[in-house]
Amino acid sequence: MTEIIDGNAVAQDIRDELTDSIETLADDGARPGLATVLMGDDPASQTYVNMKQRDCEEVGIESHHVDVDGDAPPQVLFDTIADLNDDPEIHGYIVQAPVPDHVDYRDVIRRVDPTKDVDGFHPENVGRLVAGDARFRPCTPHGVQKLLESIDVDTEGKDVTIVGRSDIVGKPLANLLLQKADDGNATVTVCHSRTNDLGAKTRNADIVVAAVGVPELVDGSMLTAGTVVIDVGVNRVDADTDKGYELVGDVEFESAKEKASAITPVPGGVGPMTRAMLLYNTVKAASMQED
Ligand code: GUN
Repeated sequence: MTEIIDGNAVAQDIRDELTDSIETLADDGARPGLATVLMGDDPASQTYVNMKQRDCEEVGIESHHVDVDGDAPPQVLFDTIADLNDDPEIHGYIVQAPVPDHVDYRDVIRRVDPTKDVDGFHPENVGRLVAGDARFRPCTPHGVQKLLESIDVDTEGKDVTIVGRSDIVGKPLANLLLQKADDGNATVTVCHSRTNDLGAKTRNADIVVAAVGVPELVDGSMLTAGTVVIDVGVNRVDADTDKGYELVGDVEFESAKEKASAITPVPGGVGPMTRAMLLYNTVKAASMQED
């Protein structure tokens, strides 16, 4: 029987654990504070930001939100960042990506105080992660590691094929899984749009992580029986539903399920874990700023 990995349940466990640490911090006068910054009005980003606010409320993190006009000059966003860096009640914050085309996201990230960079995107934090001394693990890769742990998959010596080389998921996950650590020690292959014979790489894997942003790219014919499949993709595709679209992953679920020993659904797999690990990083930021 294929195990359908319940990301909502694993995320709930993580939130429950965090709630206790948050109350301890609050008793010491340092209730963790998380801010989200959204420039423009991308509907998917608005949904994500709203969900993050709700998560904060559930666990007792003080949440703040700043909207920046999508047509504003970059300096308006930079000033917002400077204010958040100076605000002692904000222990961590994220600038929701994507930002409008006239703003370079790298210029944004460089301005974030690395000790408040709960996304883990600042170059200093990327460097520390690659050096095996992560301050904040980026939320989605960390969530993938926690999902593997939740089903007792030991990554040591395993062949992991990651489909996707993004700065947010593919690259940091590859680095984390490579590390000499209990949740690392894997042999990692990173594939992308120019990879030859993608199926050969995914069929060779014990664990496949799809994070490429192409709807249903990975199907059952590309998997060996018994593979663990983690689907990071969240793609809106046109469909005859109330909203006019449906969410599908980067994995063709039905055929992949026939081959996989365990698989994450979309929605309800990796998505809730990303949000839970953001809360985790916020608590870590608040604890570090207290010391
Ligand atoms: N957009 C999509 N995923 C993310 C994320 O993890 N962090 C931020 N800041 N923006 C995103």
